[in-house]
Amino acid sequence: TLVRISDDALAIACGADAVARAFAEAGCIVERVSSWGMHWFEPLAEIDGMGFGPLAPGDVAAVLAGSSPKALGAIEDHPFIARQQRFTFARAGKTRPLSLEDYAAHGGWHGLERARSIGPEATIDTVTRSGLRGRGGAGFPAGIKWKTVANAPGALKYIVCNADEGDSATFADRMVMEGDPFMLIEGMAIAAHAVGAHRGYVYIRSEYPHAIAKMEAAVALSAELIAPFVLEVRVGAGAYVCGEETSLLNSLEGKRGEVRAKPPLPALEGLFGKPTVVNNVLTLAAVPFILANGAQAYADIGFGHSRGTMPIQLAGNIRHGGLFEIGFGITLGELVQDIGGGTASGRPVRAVQVGGPLGAYHPPSEFHLPFDYESFAAADALIGHAGITVFDDTADMSAQARFAFAFCAAESCGKCTPCRIGAVRGVEVMDRIRSRSGRAADPVEHLPQMRNAAKAPRTLSDEIALIEDLCETMKFGSLCALGGFTPYPVLSALRHFPEDFGAEPQQQV
Ligand code: NAI
Ligand code: SF4
Repeated sequence: TLVRISDDALAIACGADAVARAFAEAGCIVERVSSWGMHWFEPLAEIDGMGFGPLAPGDVAAVLAGSSPKALGAIEDHPFIARQQRFTFARAGKTRPLSLEDYAAHGGWHGLERARSIGPEATIDTVTRSGLRGRGGAGFPAGIKWKTVANAPGALKYIVCNADEGDSATFADRMVMEGDPFMLIEGMAIAAHAVGAHRGYVYIRSEYPHAIAKMEAAVALSAELIAPFVLEVRVGAGAYVCGEETSLLNSLEGKRGEVRAKPPLPALEGLFGKPTVVNNVLTLAAVPFILANGAQAYADIGFGHSRGTMPIQLAGNIRHGGLFEIGFGITLGELVQDIGGGTASGRPVRAVQVGGPLGAYHPPSEFHLPFDYESFAAADALIGHAGITVFDDTADMSAQARFAFAFCAAESCGKCTPCRIGAVRGVEVMDRIRSRSGRAADPVEHLPQMRNAAKAPRTLSDEIALIEDLCETMKFGSLCALGGFTPYPVLSALRHFPEDFGAEPQQQV
């Protein structure tokens, strides 16, 4: 019997290796494949298209005897999979990550072949017409960025893949690198061909050892196929801010991971001062599909100016957590309630944070929001890297607001004042607000010496006005998104959950 089990880090963390061993010991042939992205079923085994999970080694005998209560039916027909539009994750669950044979048999390299046959200009034109926008969060049109690099003077240009996936609830980049590394390599090779670059780097966070190992192996295996383009994997050292493109470039150059002022844009003066394409994993991973299937196939899906699909990541307190790829435009409520199945705790959803630790908190009254860049921006929010963290009604939203400041203070690169100092002051004010309503002033992680002794008694409205003022300074005065976006979680928590800050529930603060 051929049994397929994922070797993705999440599956392994759930015990997939032991389940794989148990199947092998029972005489089965075990193939380690990529993950389907149905995380709550891991370790998941597939036999002849039928799924079983979540399995423990002790379940193996019943699975093979055909009497397992953990039988899930045909995986492709499971509603979580059947509802998706998988462009980027088309091979998820189906191929062995490091098998060039599997990759080629499932449509691999067609995009690169096409790019080589139509030439750089038509390749950039195809990416532009597809409507693909940067999946790191800012949503800048990929084709325009590539054109800027292609038109920049100079013979030396670089492709840099930002794989410093550090947001809470995000794991799509990791799943691409662990599950379908050749797709990312193909996307980078297409970008290199399009802009005239000969060298590229994949900058991966150090917390992703499985992804680093897979990418290094995949780069070695595919070196000849992508030549003369040369690719290298570089490993970060644990700073969240190195996900910001200019501090990532500094880190790649061996410097301290400090943000650079823009302009100059990396597209014109990037790595080692040369024109550089910096794109997120998901942006580059979407490119092979677009080249292989044409711009229109991608542009046909989506909502407004957000074209194509988004691999959305459902996490936190959610029943059905995992990777859900679908065209833009699905509502937040559908994602959380219908697809995610509500909270894992069974309690009501109180808030969902979209876009990582710097994203806004949304109450269920905002569940009508369509998932796209513009709709979220209009609601003072962001989709970011499309990670969704769900909280139930036990969440303390002033603690979450405080966490946003504490996170910013801990991760600040220190270059600009609103972020470096503002975040620390924000923690102090939040602690004062919380202690007014009997909420504990949590021990301040990472921060030395808080100066919390108020010199004159302040009212709650004074403190809240101070927070709003501080947020405005951080939003408009910070050099990068770390300081500039910290106000989103803080102000959304304050706006939607005033009672957690000691204010009247109805009071608009
Ligand atoms: P940005 O808006 O400054 O730039 C977006 C991209 O477009 C950059 O690569 C920039 O170099 C490029 N660009 C802008 N104008 C260009 C032009 N005329 N020609 C060529 N390229 C051009 O945004 P930034 O600061 O890079 O990123 C902010 C975003 O990052 C936020 O929207 C947020 O959602 C996201 N974010 C993502 C996180 C993650 O972990 N994925 C964490 C924190 C924030
Ligand atoms: Fe550095 Fe914060 Fe300023 Fe960004 S906002 S440049 S992380 S100090």
